[in-house]
Amino acid sequence: MMKKLVVLSVLGVSALMAADGAKLYGAKCAECHGANGKDIAISGKAIAGDAAALTKLSGYKAGTFGGDQKATMQASLDGLSDDDLKAIAGHVGTLK
Ligand code: HEC
Repeated sequence: MMKKLVVLSVLGVSALMAADGAKLYGAKCAECHGANGKDIAISGKAIAGDAAALTKLSGYKAGTFGGDQKATMQASLDGLSDDDLKAIAGHVGTLK
Protein backbone atom coordinates (compact mmCIF):
# COMPACT_ATOMS: atom_id res chain seq x y z
CA MET A 1 0.00 0.00 0.00
CA MET A 2 2.67 2.51 1.04
CA LYS A 3 4.79 1.56 -1.95
CA LYS A 4 1.93 2.21 -4.35
CA LEU A 5 1.33 5.62 -2.86
CA VAL A 6 4.99 6.56 -3.22
CA VAL A 7 5.08 5.46 -6.85
CA LEU A 8 1.91 7.38 -7.58
CA SER A 9 3.16 10.55 -6.00
CA VAL A 10 6.48 10.37 -7.86
CA LEU A 11 4.65 9.98 -11.15
CA GLY A 12 2.27 12.76 -10.19
CA VAL A 13 5.06 15.19 -9.44
CA SER A 14 6.97 14.62 -12.67
CA ALA A 15 3.78 14.89 -14.74
CA LEU A 16 3.00 18.14 -12.97
CA MET A 17 6.45 19.56 -13.62
CA ALA A 18 6.29 18.74 -17.32
CA ALA A 19 2.93 20.45 -17.54
CA ASP A 20 4.22 23.48 -15.66
CA GLY A 21 7.20 23.92 -17.97
CA ALA A 22 4.98 24.03 -21.04
CA LYS A 23 2.48 26.29 -19.33
CA LEU A 24 5.12 28.70 -18.02
CA TYR A 25 6.80 28.78 -21.42
CA GLY A 26 3.49 29.67 -23.05
CA ALA A 27 2.82 32.41 -20.54
CA LYS A 28 6.31 33.87 -20.18
CA CYS A 29 8.38 33.09 -23.26
CA ALA A 30 6.28 32.34 -26.33
CA GLU A 31 5.46 35.98 -27.07
CA CYS A 32 9.11 36.62 -27.97
CA HIS A 33 10.45 33.17 -28.85
CA GLY A 34 7.36 31.70 -30.51
CA ALA A 35 5.38 28.67 -29.37
CA ASN A 36 7.99 26.42 -31.01
CA GLY A 37 11.08 28.32 -29.83
CA LYS A 38 12.03 29.24 -33.39
CA ASP A 39 10.88 32.82 -33.65
CA ILE A 40 14.05 34.85 -34.16
CA ALA A 41 12.50 38.26 -34.92
CA ILE A 42 13.11 39.54 -31.39
CA SER A 43 15.87 37.40 -29.90
CA GLY A 44 17.89 36.80 -33.07
CA LYS A 45 18.34 33.14 -32.18
CA ALA A 46 16.25 30.00 -32.13
CA ILE A 47 16.15 28.40 -28.70
CA ALA A 48 14.27 25.20 -29.63
CA GLY A 49 16.02 22.09 -28.33
CA ASP A 50 18.80 24.07 -26.62
CA ALA A 51 20.33 21.62 -24.15
CA ALA A 52 22.11 24.51 -22.43
CA ALA A 53 18.91 26.47 -21.83
CA LEU A 54 19.04 26.04 -18.06
CA THR A 55 22.63 27.27 -17.87
CA LYS A 56 21.73 30.29 -19.97
CA LEU A 57 18.58 31.11 -18.00
CA SER A 58 20.43 30.81 -14.69
CA GLY A 59 23.16 33.00 -16.16
CA TYR A 60 20.68 35.69 -17.16
CA LYS A 61 19.22 35.58 -13.68
CA ALA A 62 22.63 35.82 -12.04
CA GLY A 63 23.85 38.44 -14.51
CA THR A 64 26.69 36.23 -15.77
CA PHE A 65 25.33 35.48 -19.25
CA GLY A 66 23.89 37.48 -22.08
CA GLY A 67 24.42 39.77 -25.03
CA ASP A 68 23.36 43.31 -25.93
CA GLN A 69 19.76 42.64 -25.04
CA LYS A 70 20.23 40.70 -21.85
CA ALA A 71 18.18 43.23 -19.86
CA THR A 72 15.14 42.10 -21.85
CA MET A 73 15.72 38.50 -20.83
CA GLN A 74 16.46 39.38 -17.24
CA ALA A 75 13.17 41.26 -17.00
CA SER A 76 11.27 38.34 -18.50
CA LEU A 77 12.67 35.99 -15.83
CA ASP A 78 11.46 38.22 -13.03
CA GLY A 79 9.42 36.31 -10.48
CA LEU A 80 10.45 32.86 -11.72
CA SER A 81 12.02 30.48 -9.19
CA ASP A 82 14.95 28.15 -9.90
CA ASP A 83 12.44 25.29 -10.09
CA ASP A 84 10.42 27.25 -12.65
CA LEU A 85 13.58 27.76 -14.71
CA LYS A 86 14.30 24.02 -14.58
CA ALA A 87 10.79 23.17 -15.74
CA ILE A 88 10.90 25.78 -18.52
CA ALA A 89 14.37 24.72 -19.68
CA GLY A 90 13.13 21.13 -19.78
CA HIS A 91 10.32 22.23 -22.05
CA VAL A 92 12.66 24.27 -24.28
CA GLY A 93 14.79 21.13 -24.68
CA THR A 94 11.79 19.24 -26.08
CA LEU A 95 10.96 21.89 -28.71
CA LYS A 96 11.94 21.15 -32.30
C1 HEC B 1 10.33 40.39 -24.21
C2 HEC B 1 10.91 39.38 -25.08
C3 HEC B 1 11.44 38.10 -24.46
C4 HEC B 1 10.81 37.25 -23.57
C5 HEC B 1 9.43 37.41 -22.94
C6 HEC B 1 11.73 36.15 -23.36
N1 HEC B 1 12.87 36.31 -24.09
FE1 HEC B 1 14.44 35.02 -24.21
N2 HEC B 1 15.49 36.37 -25.31
C7 HEC B 1 15.01 37.60 -25.70
C8 HEC B 1 16.10 38.38 -26.27
C9 HEC B 1 16.01 39.79 -26.83
C10 HEC B 1 17.26 37.56 -26.19
C11 HEC B 1 18.70 37.92 -26.54
C12 HEC B 1 19.27 38.50 -25.24
C13 HEC B 1 20.75 38.77 -25.23
O1 HEC B 1 21.19 39.71 -25.90
O2 HEC B 1 21.47 38.04 -24.53
C14 HEC B 1 16.82 36.30 -25.59
C15 HEC B 1 17.66 35.22 -25.35
C16 HEC B 1 17.26 34.01 -24.83
C17 HEC B 1 18.09 32.83 -24.68
C18 HEC B 1 19.56 32.72 -25.05
C19 HEC B 1 19.74 32.37 -26.50
C20 HEC B 1 21.22 32.17 -26.77
O3 HEC B 1 21.58 31.04 -27.07
O4 HEC B 1 21.99 33.13 -26.67
C21 HEC B 1 17.33 31.86 -24.13
C22 HEC B 1 17.75 30.44 -23.79
C23 HEC B 1 16.02 32.43 -23.90
N3 HEC B 1 16.00 33.72 -24.34
C24 HEC B 1 14.97 31.77 -23.33
C25 HEC B 1 13.80 32.41 -22.88
C26 HEC B 1 12.83 31.78 -22.03
C27 HEC B 1 12.90 30.34 -21.55
C28 HEC B 1 11.87 32.72 -21.77
C29 HEC B 1 10.68 32.61 -20.85
C30 HEC B 1 10.99 32.45 -19.44
C31 HEC B 1 12.24 33.92 -22.50
N4 HEC B 1 13.42 33.69 -23.14
C32 HEC B 1 11.47 35.07 -22.54
C33 HEC B 1 13.70 38.05 -25.60
C34 HEC B 1 12.74 37.50 -24.77
